[in-house]
Amino acid sequence: MTIYLNGEYMPIEEAKISVLDRGFIFGDGVYEVIPVYSRKAFRLAEHLRRLQYSLDGIKLANPHSDGEWAGICSKLIALNSGDDQYLYLHITRGVAKRDHVFPNPPVKPTVFMMSNPLSVPPEALLQSGVCAVTAQDNRWLRCDIKSIALLPNVLLRQMAVEAGCVETVLIRDNEFMTEGAASNIFVVNNGKLLAPPKDNLMLPGITYDVILEIAAANSIPFEVRKIAVGEVFAADELLLTSSTREVLAITRLDGKPVGNGKPGAMFAGLHKLYQDFKRDVMRADR
Ligand code: PDD
Repeated sequence: MTIYLNGEYMPIEEAKISVLDRGFIFGDGVYEVIPVYSRKAFRLAEHLRRLQYSLDGIKLANPHSDGEWAGICSKLIALNSGDDQYLYLHITRGVAKRDHVFPNPPVKPTVFMMSNPLSVPPEALLQSGVCAVTAQDNRWLRCDIKSIALLPNVLLRQMAVEAGCVETVLIRDNEFMTEGAASNIFVVNNGKLLAPPKDNLMLPGITYDVILEIAAANSIPFEVRKIAVGEVFAADELLLTSSTREVLAITRLDGKPVGNGKPGAMFAGLHKLYQDFKRDVMRADR
């Protein structure tokens, strides 16, 4: 696997960073995960916009223009095998003597990018749906920043896996649902798609936006508003979205079936429209 590190392309085995990197010491950095279909980065402009938002959120200057980012992405895609990949892009505040305060003058940020094969969820998982558990959302109050400091997310996601499930649905203050440990979550009730609002308590998902655009374009009723915990447990359907998992039905929650325990009509419709959209966008880009 060929990776990008600070201006150079190299085999991953040769990539080295300092133990004083602020990403290593403090988790002081941000990242992006960008799906690549047919060797084209999907929604690159939107991912780069969110990257800028995260960088602004941690007061770190963007080391590259969008054009430069696009060039690095294309070169890395070309250097790795497989038509469908996902890019992992990671920027830290760089290498400096350990001190919480930002280095002054600023040092060069560390820029790392790698590409892995993207395998979309297999047909069997689309048919069965997946199981999830719920947990208190014990993360910080800037979940809108795509921070590399993911320990809370790691621990929350591990809870799901130890329960034999794939995702943890997060509940803030015993009141409302925010998102998944590594995904956004939608609720379906009485034929209506409900989405939590993009605020400081959730990551503004790129896939989330695609789903809402698809809903709007296809006259699927939807509402963006706070979702009470009771609505999650009473849902007819629950959906999970992310760049690497696209859209999946959650059919069991905390050991109980969601709705009738099978992926529902909203999931089937949105999954098909998502695939159509993906193909149209990738074709249009050619
Ligand atoms: N995670 N919320 C959280 C906490 C996430 O980590 C992710 C994605 C999402 C979905 O965002 P998007 O649709 O832009 O992928 C929501 C990525 C895939 C990851 O960390 O690997």
